[in-house]
Amino acid sequence: MSKLPIAVLISGGGSNLQALIDKVEDGTLDVDIKMVLSNRAGAYGLERARKHSIPTCTLSHKDYSSREEFDGEMVRVLKGAGVEAVIMAGFMRIITPVFLSAFPGNIINIHPALLPSFAGAGGQVEASEYGVQISGCTVHFVDEKMDHGAIIIQAAVPAMPGEDVETLTERILQVEHRVLPQATKWLAEGRLSVEGRFVKLTPANVAKAELNTDFPCLINPPLEEGF
Ligand code: GRF
Repeated sequence: MSKLPIAVLISGGGSNLQALIDKVEDGTLDVDIKMVLSNRAGAYGLERARKHSIPTCTLSHKDYSSREEFDGEMVRVLKGAGVEAVIMAGFMRIITPVFLSAFPGNIINIHPALLPSFAGAGGQVEASEYGVQISGCTVHFVDEKMDHGAIIIQAAVPAMPGEDVETLTERILQVEHRVLPQATKWLAEGRLSVEGRFVKLTPANVAKAELNTDFPCLINPPLEEGF
């Protein structure tokens, strides 16, 4: 089977991009990263891509008079590179139907909170300031609303007593680096189908019978004995 040609969209450090590259290079993730596109020229993620000989492109949204015009140019560049699916990994722009319709059902995003809570930029900060006991991250299909599309995978990360937002953010990021490559693999293998808000993974990873006895569950603070 041929490898899914993907682009990774970034705006910053690109540690999620690095996680994808690492999984491609160790043979776990069978995709072809055709391009890394950033809307910020100084994004360190571009360096990471260059180190691994992945073509890069910087398009500043500030050079375009509308979101649609910017998206149209991104589509032109990515299609020109043969891209069929798009991974938004810390890409801090809202996309329009111009972009969505170019890669239907093939755009996913990672968000550093348990959606639908704390959508938008700074999800970790808001969650931390709100005093949540459990935060986490979400990989979802992208639709026309921000941080809204059908959810592929979520991971819960407990907030530790007295923890500051920086360490919580870092711990969430560590988990992001696991779930984004996993979701990308499922996408590349054609194992995800969407019905309304529901994403079905085939074959499912957890048998129904197992769910009844020992289902995965994170409760924080941990329950005391007897509960
Ligand atoms: C991640 O937390 C991502 O979920 C958020 O921005 C951060 C980007 O980190 N949208 P990096 O650029 O992948 O290091």
